[in-house]
Amino acid sequence: MRYSVEWIDDHVRVLNQRLLPGKEQYLDLFSSDEVAAAICDMTIRGAPAIGVAAAYGIVLAARNAPASERVQAVEDAIGALGRTRPTAVNLFAALKHMRRVLDTSNLDHLVDAMLQEAVRLHDEEISSSITISRFGASLIPEEATVLTHCNAGMIATAAHGTAVGAMVEAYTQGKLQRAIATETRPLLQGARLTVWELARAGVPTVLITDSMVGHFMRTTHIDCVMVGADRIAANGDVANKIGTYAIAVLAKAHRIPFYVTAPCSTIDGSIRSGDQIEIEERSETEVTALDGRTIAANGASVRNPAFDVTPHRFVTAIVTERGILRAPYTKELRILTGHPGGRRK
Ligand code: MRU
Repeated sequence: MRYSVEWIDDHVRVLNQRLLPGKEQYLDLFSSDEVAAAICDMTIRGAPAIGVAAAYGIVLAARNAPASERVQAVEDAIGALGRTRPTAVNLFAALKHMRRVLDTSNLDHLVDAMLQEAVRLHDEEISSSITISRFGASLIPEEATVLTHCNAGMIATAAHGTAVGAMVEAYTQGKLQRAIATETRPLLQGARLTVWELARAGVPTVLITDSMVGHFMRTTHIDCVMVGADRIAANGDVANKIGTYAIAVLAKAHRIPFYVTAPCSTIDGSIRSGDQIEIEERSETEVTALDGRTIAANGASVRNPAFDVTPHRFVTAIVTERGILRAPYTKELRILTGHPGGRRK
């Protein structure tokens, strides 16, 4: 299997990201409900990968329904998939594309038209991620050390990766000397997934805990930070994995460039600022337990926002497949997306 999400004959095959790095298990999903459940429990995760999986989930809903119930089945699946995770806009962008097919296709050819559209969206993510990796690598200097947070790699994109793709590309070009990966509490996407990907690509990598970032920025040379994104507002504010904001503030304090890499499918031109982005709140047990074992004492209430928003003033550049954007982002993003610039709250 080349990518973490793929269409195989009549179903979707996904890499179970929950079991990595211990086990490389592939799951065959035959219904949109199974796809929705896999997105909810983060078997499939990462903004672009969620979008691609949701598109294939809609194809399954259309395929599995009798012709007379097909339209309703697709409507229901769009609703159910749209309720899985609220922050990554790629999910909603993909569902919007699939709805357009429902609205415009001849019902006799709906399943074929839907599969064609889902494959097109997937191909688009693949080619975007290749371009983003090249553009991102162009920002990485010789003999560089680059810090990344969470996992914006192949498995998160069902393609070649964005931030991690750029780092691997820079390593291949002989420029990246060392990667620093944060562990990314509470679900350890950095420790489990980014280190796994970078190691497979042969990139020398140092794993640190999230709370060590300030120490290393102060005491060692870090050339830049490169992360992915789950949603970018019209003004350039960026929602990404919880902890990203703190790293961006630290980067600015240490005059380290902070680069966000994301396909245009991650840009939400309909919202003016990051304040309008819904932040997913996940289960308390992700914080209180590690690998199924409770580690926290009783007696405290627990919060678990899965993402935070980094205001655009902390972002040095946004790397997309259509170019590298710099402030003022409102103008740049408006030109890029053709969107008028977002509604007020
Ligand atoms: O909760 P997750 O693991 O789905 O969050 C993923 C991230 O925050 C990634 O950085 C983001 O989706 C970019 S993936 C190219």
